[in-house]
Amino acid sequence: MKRSVRPLFSILLLIVFAATLTCRVAIRFGFSQIELENKVLLRAPAPSVFNSTLLKMAAIDMGEAHSKQEIEQLLEGNFASRGRYRTFSSWRKFNKHDIRASSSRGIPLMLRSTEFYRQWLEFRRVLHDWARNKRYQAEIMMELVRQVKLPIDRHNGLVGSDSKYASCAVVGNSGILLEKEYGSLIDSHEVVIRLNNARTEKFGRNVGAKTNISFVNSNILHLCARREGCFCHPYGVNVPIVMYICQPVHLLDYTVCNSSHKAPLLITDARIDVLCSRIVKYYSLKRFVEEEGKPLEKWGSAHDGSMFHYSSGMQAVMLALGVCEKVSIYGFGKLASTKHHYHTNQKAELRLHDYEAEYAFYHDLVNNPQAIPFISDKFKIPPVVIYQ
Ligand SMILES: *[C@@H]1O[C@H](CO)[C@@H](O)[C@H](O)[C@H]1NC(C)=O
Ligand SMILES: *[C@@H]1O[C@H](CO)[C@@H](O)[C@H](O)[C@H]1NC(C)=O
Ligand SMILES: *[C@@H]1O[C@H](CO)[C@@H](O)[C@H](O)[C@H]1NC(C)=O
Repeated sequence: MKRSVRPLFSILLLIVFAATLTCRVAIRFGFSQIELENKVLLRAPAPSVFNSTLLKMAAIDMGEAHSKQEIEQLLEGNFASRGRYRTFSSWRKFNKHDIRASSSRGIPLMLRSTEFYRQWLEFRRVLHDWARNKRYQAEIMMELVRQVKLPIDRHNGLVGSDSKYASCAVVGNSGILLEKEYGSLIDSHEVVIRLNNARTEKFGRNVGAKTNISFVNSNILHLCARREGCFCHPYGVNVPIVMYICQPVHLLDYTVCNSSHKAPLLITDARIDVLCSRIVKYYSLKRFVEEEGKPLEKWGSAHDGSMFHYSSGMQAVMLALGVCEKVSIYGFGKLASTKHHYHTNQKAELRLHDYEAEYAFYHDLVNNPQAIPFISDKFKIPPVVIYQ
């Protein structure tokens, strides 16, 4: 049932995942100076398909200067903003460490708890390691088997090998899933990847029942971290979670929750995050000038520059490209007649994602993979099928 997605897209409305479940990058400021990386990857043998102006613009991370500052402040124990401080102090409260410390007094008092101090050091180590990888590397797709599949195989009692999964289904959360009964087709894949803890009970015929990887953004774990034992397992405690970090302070939730999770809780390499950002921004810029006929300089204000973010679904697809021989995509897209999510009554909102740009990317995955920038051409993109 492979279909060309483009005609459908013209009638697509924006899809959005639940506001609370969407990775909001908690920043909004002016554009700071950013060094342009001169080295922009061109995929041989057809480099001419890329417009270098678009590539250069796509490589600029408007939130970079702020993000660097935030990471430095966190490493120094400076919570700078009230929001971040609240995250931290509520974490303390929920984890019952030294509740006596008044939230207005700041870190030194908090550090009186030795357990807290241990966690704090661990958090700094994890944050430091994560932040060090926040850069562009075209070859990072080739690392995914080692970074994600191997630990999961080990957890499942398998001896690690370099092989990929034979076939994977990435199941998005769009209401279009209710239009079809893809459940058993989805479950027939070797590996099923689901997004942001969307539930499957009562929807088996439409979405299937099996889950091998639960892919979430860190806002989800941040909410789970308030529960007993960081419970975050609608698919069962043995299902590995792969998570990307929306806000560096969420690494604290990771630090706290990692030890209590039976199955692997893996953080995406920040180099994959950077790669995803660039690709989606490239498609967004391209559509902006080529299809909407607008001037490139206006993109930042139209798309909320420093807040702009790819969706969880897009990154889950990238993960699947790295660890699977074949990728099938379900539940991505939107029809005027369908619900926004299959499992909620939420209305569409949010402008920080450009779903149309992401659809254009998926369309190229299926029909024209050599038109996709930034991925090393040493990496072979597997065949992709989109089920609508
Ligand atoms: C690249 O895109 C920009 C913005 O749309 C356009 O002004 C420029 O002419 C394009 N360059 C080439 C070589 O096509
Ligand atoms: C995927 O999940 C199913 C159901 O839990 C399980 O039987 C199967 O072994 C898993 N496959 C892999 C490759 O982990
Ligand atoms: C998370 O926990 C696992 C299992 O306990 C451990 O092997 C891993 O090193 C931990 N991750 C980090 C970054 O500490």
